Amino acid sequence: MPNSPSGPVMVAPLDLSARVDEALAVQAEAFGLGEDEIMVRRQIVQRHMTMPGARALGATTPDGRLAGFVYGMPNDRAHWWSTVVEPYLRALGNDDWLDDSFVITELHVHPLHQKQGIGRALITAITDTAAEPRSILSAIDQESPARRLYRTLGYTDLARRVHFPSAAVPYAVMGAPLPLPRG
Ligand SMILES: CC(C)(COP(=O)(O)OP(=O)(O)OC[C@H]1O[C@@H](n2cnc3c(N)ncnc32)[C@H](O)[C@@H]1OP(=O)(O)O)[C@@H](O)C(=O)NCCC(=O)NCCS
Repeated sequence: MPNSPSGPVMVAPLDLSARVDEALAVQAEAFGLGEDEIMVRRQIVQRHMTMPGARALGATTPDGRLAGFVYGMPNDRAHWWSTVVEPYLRALGNDDWLDDSFVITELHVHPLHQKQGIGRALITAITDTAAEPRSILSAIDQESPARRLYRTLGYTDLARRVHFPSAAVPYAVMGAPLPLPRG
């Protein structure tokens, strides 16, 4: 069980639709979101949680605060994210990763609680619930704690310099076989 400054955190299913504001507050601190972006993300999260197989896990401190969360779903080539990344993956012969894959849509840990194994615990636990044999995700295409964590979990680059219309910086798409390795 990973720790937080206030004691051990519990990783458990999260009703993300009901707790979207707490989750976005964590994301805002971890990833840097402005007020406008938070409003847009709120709509997106609510829509995502209606998609087949979408699920979330939260890491909660002993005093009931959300220290981090992850959510994802079985990938669907018709989803917006897949339609953006598909040509980049296809150009490298990697687009089969869009099938039979569990996509990690968001993973964020509040800065006060980072580097204590919570991110690893969240992504490992949610992918353990997946029926799919592999997992894909996108991360900003620069060295970061996120990219390092994903690599240690077996994620490798499937495409780089991927441009999302809404993003100012390019992303890398990464994929890993499941289950993810234990620490
Ligand atoms: C990416 C992110 C979710 C990782 O969460 P985290 O809880 O800090 O991750 P972990 O603690 O499991 O692992 C991160 C690092 O802490 C180290 N660590 C884990 N437990 C530790 C402990 N008890 N003591 C010291 N270091 C520890 C890990 O080895 C890892 O080290 P590294 O970065 O040098 O490789 C978090 O940094 C974050 O929210 N970042 C901003 C948002 C973001 O980029 N999200 C991903 C979008 S794609």
